[in-house]
This record gives sequence, C-alpha cells and structure tokens, in this order.
Amino acid sequence: MIGIFDSGFGGLTIFGDIERQLPEYDYIYLGDNARAPYGNHSQELIYEYTRQAVDYLFNQGCDLIILACHTASAEALRKLQQEYLPKNWPGKNVLGVIRPIAEEAIRLSSGKKVAVIGTQSTIDSQSYIREIQHQDPSIAVIQQACPLLVPIIEEGQIQAPSTRQILRDYLESIKEAKPDVLILGCTHYGWLYDIINKLLGGQVQILDSGRIVAEKLADYLARHSDLVKKSLAEPQRIFLTTDDNKKFDRAAQKWLGREIKSQIIKLT
Ligand code: DGL
Repeated sequence: MIGIFDSGFGGLTIFGDIERQLPEYDYIYLGDNARAPYGNHSQELIYEYTRQAVDYLFNQGCDLIILACHTASAEALRKLQQEYLPKNWPGKNVLGVIRPIAEEAIRLSSGKKVAVIGTQSTIDSQSYIREIQHQDPSIAVIQQACPLLVPIIEEGQIQAPSTRQILRDYLESIKEAKPDVLILGCTHYGWLYDIINKLLGGQVQILDSGRIVAEKLADYLARHSDLVKKSLAEPQRIFLTTDDNKKFDRAAQKWLGREIKSQIIKLT
C-alpha cells in the first residue's frame, strides 16, 4: 500500500499521474485540508503535522509514503528520513517531490535559467536552489513566493477574475527574468497550469510535476520490489481528508474525473 500525502487538494495533481502510470498498487490519499495551507506555518509546525500524517498512514498499513507536497518535502522530509523513520518505522520509507523535479529541470534547462514559484516556506527554505545548484552550480535559479495561491485553490476560486490578476502580479518578475524552465514548486499549482501557461505566453517550459514524480516512483518501485507489493485483488483507492468530505469529493472528482467518496479522519 502506498500513501500519498498533501496539505489538501494539491497532491491530487500528483496522485492522478501516479495512479495512471502504476494502477496495480493500492493507494491511500490523505489531504490535511483542515490545516491547509501549510506554507505560511513555521518549519516546526509543518514537521509536526507531516509526522502525524506519516504515523497515520503507516498505521493504516502503508509501506511507502509520497509527500506530494513541496512544503512538507522541503521542511520535513530530511528529518523524517534521517531521524524519525529509523527509530519509529524501520524498513519503511518516505519520498518527496523536490529532488525528482529539480533533476528534470536541470536536464531540460539548456539556457541555464530555472524559475521556481512556491509557498512562502518552500521558497524561504531555498530547497530548489540547493538541490539544483548542488548538481549544476552554473544554473541560475529565480524564485517567487505566491502565498495567496493555495487558499485560492482550497476555496475553489480558480476561475475568479481576481485570481488571474494575482497570478499576473506574481509572474511579473519571472517574465522579466526570461527563464527557460518553470517549476511549479507547489503541487496545488497544477490546478493553475493552463492559466500560468497562458500568462507566460507559452514562452517557458512548465514542468509537469505529476508525470515526473510518477516516472521516478515507477523507477524506485522497480528497484525496491520487496518494499511495496502489487495488489493481489482489485487495487484499493482510499481517500481521507481532515475537513468537509463533500468539498473534498467535489475537488477530487474534478481532478480525477470519477466519483470519489472520501472519509473524514482526525490527525493528532
Ligand atoms: N501542495 C502544497 C505544496 O506543494 C501546498 C502547501 C500549503 O498547504 O501551503 O507545497
């Protein structure tokens, strides 16, 4: 069983691709919608919330968890992998989204200029700058925090005219810098892909985070076939949220294109 975790709806943009590429596994998706957005919280709180979700998913029988959330990947992944898992969940693993996406950006950026948009905490963590420049110091990384976007998406305001204006403002500095690759450094932003692409006039390659993470996961599973077993019966899909499940079902249905019935859980 594979757990997919996000602060809310953003991870669905990753889950959709994972499920399409690797349908033969069992999945539990957990969105901590009640406490989203994570991106404006302190590192300590993001770690604590993510640790609670990780405990919950492992207790449900997951063998591997994907943090389908850049904020949790930036602020909690390393401590979980290095300190928490060896003591509390030996033999299990948690993977994030930043490294695979950074690797793809490096591969595609022939102009050596990569832009990143993300939550305040992901941008402040400088995780993308570190990850990219560690592998290729000649690549310039331009960053822009977009703290209003996750609340807009969680509230279903994607099509509001004000959203376009807010995005226009956020993208101004990116447009000026003329990067050749743009990383949507927050899984929620997958919901805004088309609008962002239009506002950038199709001039910048916007990375498809879901496809990249799904491909890297397929590769990981092929190398660790003993960690997660393929489903023997009908593969399970379980959806969990910490907030209103009707709202979750509507959003999940919109993204995944089928009826979803989620359950409400409490994380402590
Ligand atoms: N989807 C999360 C991410 O990728 C959103 C974080 C938030 O809740 O602010 O960063």
